[in-house]
Formats: sequence, C-alpha cells, structure tokens
Amino acid sequence: MVEHECKRDGAVPLDDASTTEVTLQDCRFTPIVVNQQDATFTLHTLHTAYQMCVDRYGYLIHLYYGPRTEGTMNYVLNFCDRGQASQPERVNDRTYSLDSLPQEFSFQGMGDLRNPMFVVREATTGAYGCDLQYRGYEVIDGKYGLPGLPAVYSDDAKDMAQTLKVILHDERLDMDVELLYGVMPTYDVITRAVRVVNKGGATIEVKRLHTASIDFMHGDFDVMTFFGRHGMERMPTRARIEHGSFSIMSRRGESSHQYNPFMIVCDYDATESAGQAWSMSFVYSGNFYAAVEKDQFDQVRMQMGLNDELFSYPVAPGEAFVGPEVIMTYSNEGLGLLSQNLHRVIRQRVCRGYWRDRVRPVLINSWEASYFDFTGDSLVELAKKAKECGIELLVMDDGWFGHRDDDMSSLGDWYPNKKKLGGTVAELAKRVNDVGLEFGIWYEPEMISEDSDLYRAHPDWALTVPGKPKVLGRHQLVLDMSRKEVRDNIFQQMCGVLDDANVAYLKWDCNRSLIDIYSRDTSDQGRVLYDYVLGLYDLLERVHERYPEMLIEGCAGGGGRFDAGMLYYTPQIWTSDTTDAINRLTIQAGTSFGYPTSTMGCHVSEVPNAITRRSTPLFTRGTVAMMGGGFGYELDITKLPDEEIDLIKQQVGAYHETAELVMNGRFYRLVPPETNRLSAWEFVADDGSEALVSAVIIDVHGYGVASYVVPRGLTPDSSYVCKETGVIYPSNALMSVGFPLAPIVVPYESYQFHFKRVEA
Ligand code: GLA
Repeated sequence: MVEHECKRDGAVPLDDASTTEVTLQDCRFTPIVVNQQDATFTLHTLHTAYQMCVDRYGYLIHLYYGPRTEGTMNYVLNFCDRGQASQPERVNDRTYSLDSLPQEFSFQGMGDLRNPMFVVREATTGAYGCDLQYRGYEVIDGKYGLPGLPAVYSDDAKDMAQTLKVILHDERLDMDVELLYGVMPTYDVITRAVRVVNKGGATIEVKRLHTASIDFMHGDFDVMTFFGRHGMERMPTRARIEHGSFSIMSRRGESSHQYNPFMIVCDYDATESAGQAWSMSFVYSGNFYAAVEKDQFDQVRMQMGLNDELFSYPVAPGEAFVGPEVIMTYSNEGLGLLSQNLHRVIRQRVCRGYWRDRVRPVLINSWEASYFDFTGDSLVELAKKAKECGIELLVMDDGWFGHRDDDMSSLGDWYPNKKKLGGTVAELAKRVNDVGLEFGIWYEPEMISEDSDLYRAHPDWALTVPGKPKVLGRHQLVLDMSRKEVRDNIFQQMCGVLDDANVAYLKWDCNRSLIDIYSRDTSDQGRVLYDYVLGLYDLLERVHERYPEMLIEGCAGGGGRFDAGMLYYTPQIWTSDTTDAINRLTIQAGTSFGYPTSTMGCHVSEVPNAITRRSTPLFTRGTVAMMGGGFGYELDITKLPDEEIDLIKQQVGAYHETAELVMNGRFYRLVPPETNRLSAWEFVADDGSEALVSAVIIDVHGYGVASYVVPRGLTPDSSYVCKETGVIYPSNALMSVGFPLAPIVVPYESYQFHFKRVEA
C-alpha cells in the first residue's frame, strides 16, 4: 500500500503504480493508470474509461465515466460561491463544498447533504458522522473476490482483469473504508465493492452502506427500472429524472418480484441502438436500494447498495464489514449494447461451473403437469411420453417429501414420501433413468412448515418475533439461515437424498418474503437480514461444491429472486410463474435488459393458460420459450393428441439446432412487446455466421400494414440464406429495410427465421 500525507496546497501526489499496458483487439492501453501529477486514478476497459481524483483536501472526487479516453478530466469541476453551503473546518474557501462536488464515495458527516452512500455511528457515544480522507491505494493483478459473497471472477489468462483498491480513512474512529474496483477490460465492465474495516478500539455501527454511485455534473436523463409482482416480473419502466429523488428497493428479504436490483440511467433520447446509458446491477439477493437524485444544482446522483431499513451492522474492533458488489457498465450505442455487455459478463464471469457454457437439457417439469397430484408411476409415464418427444430430463417438482399433498405441510422434512413415490428417490430416479431421461428434483431449503417434524423439534429455528403474532406466507415460515446449525441440518438432509440418487438437476425455490426479522442467535437484530443472505450463499456453495455437475435452477415463486447474486450459484432461474406466452414476451424482454436470456427458465405449458386463461398456439408457446437457455415443458403431455406430440418432437429438434446460438449469441430486442402489435428478437453468433430471428404477432389491426422485421448485428456486405423460406438476402438491405412477415397475420401466430451467412 502506498500511503501519503494529505497536502493542503494542491492535489495529493500519488506514486506511479499503473498496471502494464495490454493489447486487446488491436488496442493498446493500460487498464489502471495512476497519474501522480494530477492525482487521478483512471480505469480503462476496451471502450470505456472511469476516472476519479484526490483533491487538495484529500477527498476522493468522481470525474468521469464514459467513452474510453486518455487524459485528465478534472476540468469538469467548477468552483464558485454557492451561497449557503458548508465546508470542512480546515477549508477556508466558500467556493469549496462537498455538497456540490461529485463524490466517489459520499458519506454523511462533512457537508454533502445529498443522498449519502455511507452512514456510520460510534457505538459508545452514539455519535453519527465521519470524515473520510484519502489514505492510499493498491493495484492488484486479477479481479478481487469477496469471501462469502458472490462476485464477478476473472480468468487471468484471458481477461487482463485488474483491481484497484483505494483506501479512505477516518481518524477519529480509526476506520478504513476500502473501495474496491474490478476492471474487466474485455467486458467493458467495472465492478465495485466496499470494505469497512474497524481498526480502532471501540465498536462502530454501519447504519448505511451503498456500494456504487455515479455523480453526473449535468445532463438530461431518464431512469429505467424493472417493477413487477408475482407472475409479472421485471416490467420495464422509464421516466425522466426530475428534481427530487426516485428510488426502488426491496424490504422483503429477497431481491423481490416487485423491483429488480438493476437500474439504468440513460440520455433522455437514448434508444436501443443510440445514446449513452449507464447501469448498475447488484450482485446480491436480499434487501437492496437504488436511487437517482437530481439536486439543487441540476446534478444527478445514481447509487445502489444494501437497503438500510431494518439494518444496522456492528463492526467490532479488528473486524470488517463488506458491501456486496455492484456491476457497472456504460454504452454509447444505446440500451442494446448495454444489455449485451451485461449478458456477456454475467454469462461468462458470474455464472460458474460445469453448466456455465453448456447447452442445458430440455426438461419436463411436473408442476403445471400435475401440481401435487402425482405418484412415482405417473411420473414414469410422463417420462416415457417425454422420451418419445426427445425431452431429456424429468423434474419432480413440489410434493415428494414428508406428507405434502398441498402447500400446508412438510417443508423442512426432506425425506421422501415413499408411499407416493413407490420407493425412495434413488429408486424413482433409476426408473426414470431406465426410461432414458435424467432425473431432477425440487427443494425449498430455506422454508419450514409448522406442520413438520423439523418445526416440532426446533420451533426456535424459524424466524419469528417473540410475543408477536407470526406472519405466514403460503402457510409457511422462514428458517433462520443466519444460524450455522440450521444450515447444517438442511444440508445433511439434502445429502441424505442426493448422495444416493442419480439427480442431475435441482430446483431451489423460495416462496415467501421475510417479515419476522428476529434471530435467537444474536442480540444485534440489525444484522439478521444480511447474515441470512450470507447463510443462504453458504448453503448454496456447499451444495454446489458437493454436486458440481448438478444443474441448479433458482426460483422464488417464479422470478422473485432473479439477480446476479443468485446466478453465481444457479446458472439459470425460473423466470416467472406465468407461462402465458404473451405475458412472457414482456417478462422475458424486461428480464433481458439486465440478464442473459441463457439464464432464463422458459417452459411451454398447457392452454388455456392456468393463470391468464388465454390460449395460444403450441408453436408460439415454443417460439417464446426458446428465448431462454432453460427451455422445457410443463404440462401433461400424456394427454396431448398425436399432432401436438409430433409438433413437440419438431420443436425439440429445432431447439437443438439453435440452442448453442441462444446460449452464447448476441441478443437483440428488435421490436419490444410494448408496441402491442408485434414482438421480435434476434440472436446472432459472435462471428456473424448465423442468426435466429423470432417474431410473435400480439394483435392484428383491420386491413393493417405489413409488419417488417429489421435484423441487426449481421456481417455487413455479405448475404444470408433463410432456412425457412430459402430466400437469399443481402445483409446490408436486411439491416436497413428488413423483411416483411406474411401479409396475412393471425393473432398469437409466431415465426422463427434461421439465417446462415452464405460463404463466398
Ligand atoms: C413456486 C414455483 C413453481 C412451483 C411451485 C411449487 O411457485 O415458482 O414453479 O415450483 O412453487 O410449490
């Protein structure tokens, strides 16, 4: 670490410890540049740059996040007497105020009265406030990790990733705040995390800790967030940023259906393919907070981190507290490129393990096929029919354990209902394997039913507040995952089943919010929600380590915990309990803003749809489900007529032909479903050799105009042949005027066009 005394008469001089120059895609640049003279730290990715400086008073000032550039951007700062403004006592200068300068890590206590990222309280005196000044920095090869928390990781041979650690210090509390920056040059991604280290002799309480912020000095921006509810997750919403603050959050203990921990700020006129856009994604699965605030000087602050409601984290002497990671990216080619940057980094450097790059098996799930009403025999029958269709995996969903035949009981009793299954899980798995399918299973490890042996033995393991009436959700309580003994018990129970059975897939569900926040294991209840999430991650990690080739699909009443934190443990997530193909268009397109479609679980289900009662053609249900890397079926196929079975066989075949493209291709939202007429999307192979364009007719307008679809991202100056029509198209024309769909379109009909580049 390089330490400096703050100088009052200019920028703090920094030792030169820049990383070495690298060459990427014919570009030579240095991922981290420390400029001694200007006291700036500059982070470079292939197409972006991020800069901060240490000013003459030792405060860390944010300067720039935009297109890649060399040079010093401290010229963006302006100093003038702003009337009533405060200064730290040693600053005898009315033109200087932390309330107007762009902050890299805004904290409560020295005069920045905008929305702070950090609030700390001295436990002994109860006094709030700190004075964080620059102390030093370190440049570290590779990308930092966060013990116990998910984070972007780097492949050192390929990524040229670097870490910058900037250390801020508060003298009175003897506290360091370490700002961690992960530079992922090839991904155009910069990550942030924060460590608060108590070096003093008394406990401090972290009252608020946000991980990332960007202070924009000026600009007319929109903010995009993704709201929803059970069955209708991640609806995109976009609004102009006006004076005041706008925030989204979760106070539900999980990242939530209601607001996704993902936020975009973009030029007010940004489109899919033009304009500037910045985003933040929280790599965390619990309570979060994200906000934009336009201040008195028309400056905009964007920030994201832990929600400070029901939160207060004690940090004892010698201990540290970590603010989970935020992934940031920037695009000056609109929202499409922003999403593509996130897709690549999440798919390749958040998702891990055996299944990361592999095409996932086509599955059939028992839930919408038979809900709780199944037996071992009926599942084997389903497997036989599935085998006929080319389906590769049968998932036994909820209802296989304890005496659970409805949602009133047995969570926590993870041993099989042998009567229902006709034997053990291992025996049933073998029967399904003998049919020729892999076997998968459902768990809800964090939950407990009052009617369970586990609850009867350990009622204190449920999160409940002593003396207060309990709050139930789907008739169930939540286990106190912050307690190791609780996690150990559930892990052992899971091993008891999974060690012996040939289980290729596990669905990890979580069907209620956390409301009674009280752990019998601590007197600091303000830490419980955070410790719960770390406990969840610990259990997930143990399962992942013990069964490294098992495909784990996350789920939370559908997509109530669809976040980058979960994707570190579960490379796919059930997107929504709504399987209606038309609703799914919006849900999936909304999800695609922040997450790769390869991570979305998407299934064909029966019609009329169980939730919306809408009927759509089987082909269309397939077209929509094939947007996801977790493609499958969720209906009783033993009851389908032969023509539909034949269509499913064709669908499964078509899926296999393009599955690699869907897993790893670049994704384009061509026509958003909000147009209400048509929705279209596209996958293009990285080398441009092929593309899959899909379109669904949402509504038909009388004697309407033809609908054109305009593909993007093809190789210019080349030609593509369409497999379905045999027509050869010049790529430049395709990407300019597009091609028309059939003149007579029918509501809910859909199309898939598989283009291959014609090689000269
Ligand atoms: C949740 C899931 C469903 C299904 C049920 C089982 O609602 O989202 O897919 O697994 O639980 O109870």
